[in-house]
Amino acid sequence: MNTFLDITREGRTPSRIAIDDVRTALPALLDGRDPIVITDTNIERYYPELLSPYRRITIGVGEENKTLDTVAYIYRRLMDMGADRSSYLLGIGGGIVTDITGFAASTYMRGTGFGFVATTLLSQVDASVGGKNGVNVEGYKNMAGCFNQPDFVVCDPSMLRTLPEREIKGGMAEAIKAGLIKSAALFDKMEAGYDAVMGDAALLRDIIREAIAIKAAVVEADFKESGERKKLNFGHTIAHAIEKLSRRYIHGEAVAIGCVYEAELSRRLGTVGADDVARITAAIERLGLPTRCDIDDKSLFEALHLDKKRHGDRIALVILDSIGTSRVEEMGFDRLAELMDI
Ligand SMILES: NC(=O)c1ccc[n+]([C@@H]2O[C@H](COP(=O)([O-])OP(=O)(O)OC[C@H]3O[C@@H](n4cnc5c(N)ncnc54)[C@H](O)[C@@H]3O)[C@@H](O)[C@H]2O)c1
Ligand SMILES: [Zn+2]
Repeated sequence: MNTFLDITREGRTPSRIAIDDVRTALPALLDGRDPIVITDTNIERYYPELLSPYRRITIGVGEENKTLDTVAYIYRRLMDMGADRSSYLLGIGGGIVTDITGFAASTYMRGTGFGFVATTLLSQVDASVGGKNGVNVEGYKNMAGCFNQPDFVVCDPSMLRTLPEREIKGGMAEAIKAGLIKSAALFDKMEAGYDAVMGDAALLRDIIREAIAIKAAVVEADFKESGERKKLNFGHTIAHAIEKLSRRYIHGEAVAIGCVYEAELSRRLGTVGADDVARITAAIERLGLPTRCDIDDKSLFEALHLDKKRHGDRIALVILDSIGTSRVEEMGFDRLAELMDI
């Protein structure tokens, strides 16, 4: 069974997301184009047959490779290969590969066409959908980048079989976040827990499809993040503070903790009940994700407050009105301090 989702692109054909077997979906979406693949060393190790038909550029694994130096390396290799504006780039990998590929493709000779095969759960439900591309500068996340949507994204759930469990769970955090802000039905499905979801291919596919549909709808409504798209940051205000203070958690784990924390802030604002917060906490726990960390509230608040580069004087907090509905509320740091009981 194949599933397509199309996201509108201004003045161009829609960006197509295929949730399907990569071996059949990719040739159809490439439609005769001979791409230059950008991938990482892990994908090369696990999927040699998938990569073998294509010329390719392989980059290293890990956030420390998401840099302008790696982009310059890609430009040099493209020049060596004689690539020009009619060339086509195909990023096969997780969010690091797709963020870099989108940026390199958008800038090489002022822009070539590009598509993705998203190989982590996080890149399938989040990173590869929505058109944000970029790299880190001097250790600061995504400081150089652009908005540009790929022609297509292939999400093959069976590729998650080679992904470490911790990475899969990290992706689950972004999917349940999508449910919390926009779809009680998605949240309900994910309440089944990690083993139930991973043991049921149809359920997993369904969850991936719904999480992508939510992101696609939000991105269509607000491509450049002036309003609606901010809802996708639910859980991320606290997650960013956690990530600043501790290296213990991967991003999805910090988001999981952030979702519980920010649900509790919604409760303090009186929009959801203690029973909702308990249900959210239990669901996240069943997905094998952490729900709390040992960093105290004051340190979290200070990390947020000091991060003026990100926030300015006020902060946009995503408030749950119920499980499955949300809104963005701008507030001053003094109000946030009150809410956090500091
Ligand atoms: N553009 C966006 O909107 C957006 C949104 C969220 C996150 N991101 C970015 O995405 C990046 C994180 O992405 P990620 O979590 O996918 O990390 P990642 O790309 O580092 O992948 C995680 C690890 O899994 C390996 N891997 C990938 N697919 C595999 C597979 N199928 N089998 C085995 N191993 C596999 C990778 O080599 C890597 O070691 C961050 O840089 C983040 O900023 C971007
Ligand atoms: Zn995230």
